Amino acid sequence: MTDVIDVQLRSQLMSSLDPTETRDLKVLCSRALPDEPYASLIPEVLTVGRSVVLARDKAKGRLLGAGVWSRTASIDELSSVLDLIVVDPHARRSGIGGVLLARVEHDASTSGAEVLRVAGHPPCYAWPGVDLSNIQAISFFDGRGYQRQQVVHNLRIDFADSLSAERPDPQLIASGVTVRSASELDHEWIAGEVERTWKPEWLAEVKVALSKAKRRLSNPTAGAHFAIANDMCVAFAAWGVSRPHELGPAGTTPDFRRRGLGEALLWSCMEDQRGLGLTYGEIKWAGPMSWFVRRFNARFSSAYLTYSKRVP
Ligand SMILES: CC(C)(COP(=O)(O)OP(=O)(O)OC[C@H]1O[C@@H](n2cnc3c(N)ncnc32)[C@H](O)[C@@H]1OP(=O)(O)O)[C@@H](O)C(=O)NCCC(=O)NCCS
Repeated sequence: MTDVIDVQLRSQLMSSLDPTETRDLKVLCSRALPDEPYASLIPEVLTVGRSVVLARDKAKGRLLGAGVWSRTASIDELSSVLDLIVVDPHARRSGIGGVLLARVEHDASTSGAEVLRVAGHPPCYAWPGVDLSNIQAISFFDGRGYQRQQVVHNLRIDFADSLSAERPDPQLIASGVTVRSASELDHEWIAGEVERTWKPEWLAEVKVALSKAKRRLSNPTAGAHFAIANDMCVAFAAWGVSRPHELGPAGTTPDFRRRGLGEALLWSCMEDQRGLGLTYGEIKWAGPMSWFVRRFNARFSSAYLTYSKRVP
């Protein structure tokens, strides 16, 4: 343990941070997460419905750590989720992480939660759990009474060596099916269609992708593609929900499966990503892994451990 640093904690809503505090938090994330290519984006990803505990150096006022958390009805109503905990690299192992975590547990418990999970909280989240290669964080949670729950995986598709030269032609794949990207005009219709067929978390994710695309029409960092048959949306795929390189969610209704629609739609998403200059896409919390491996030569990018603890 390094020298104890006297910190001052403050709890508030993420949405109420002022521009200077937001900037400080972005700088902290960039310093604390050197392997995360979109580190400075994370505070924006974790804005809606999130609370934050900020730890500042009492003497100098500098931001040394932060814990972001949220209540969740999508997992269960007695739960809350720790979305992020970061401590400045120079201030680590001086107890700040522990103090922050204790305050988050207290705040979550005061809000009515009985459990604090360390997991992904859709629609927008940084990671689906703690990266198994992150020895600091794994040791940190193991040592603080958190129970290991499950391992989930992200998959990575490298565009240069994973996509075949020939683009699947969606018009040939299923006659009577039209495939296109969502224009601003059909957002509401598409949302209604996804809501009718798919789970609420996916609808929320598609809505985020669509609204991001709408905000940056000329150079979107997110988007979605759809397949339509008989005036119904029979397949969809979204990209960029939390960060531009993310792929998914994607789904094809049972009657239209095994016709290559999923592949064609994801391909369209990857073309959009390539247009941004990205060289790979990542599927968070991947479902049918063998499908992604077969179709796109996907490989494991990371494995994540989820945790949970009863909070007093
Ligand atoms: C995880 C993290 C928040 C801990 O912050 P901290 O201020 O160092 O936490 P504390 O000082 O209260 O506790 C440190 C404990 O974490 C574990 N730990 C931290 N660094 C470690 C390392 N290099 N090797 C092994 N264990 C380590 C140990 O259990 C340690 O206790 P000890 O010092 O008594 O051995 C910090 O390492 C961090 O910001 N990591 C980067 C961000 C991150 O990955 N967050 C998790 C995903 S949300």
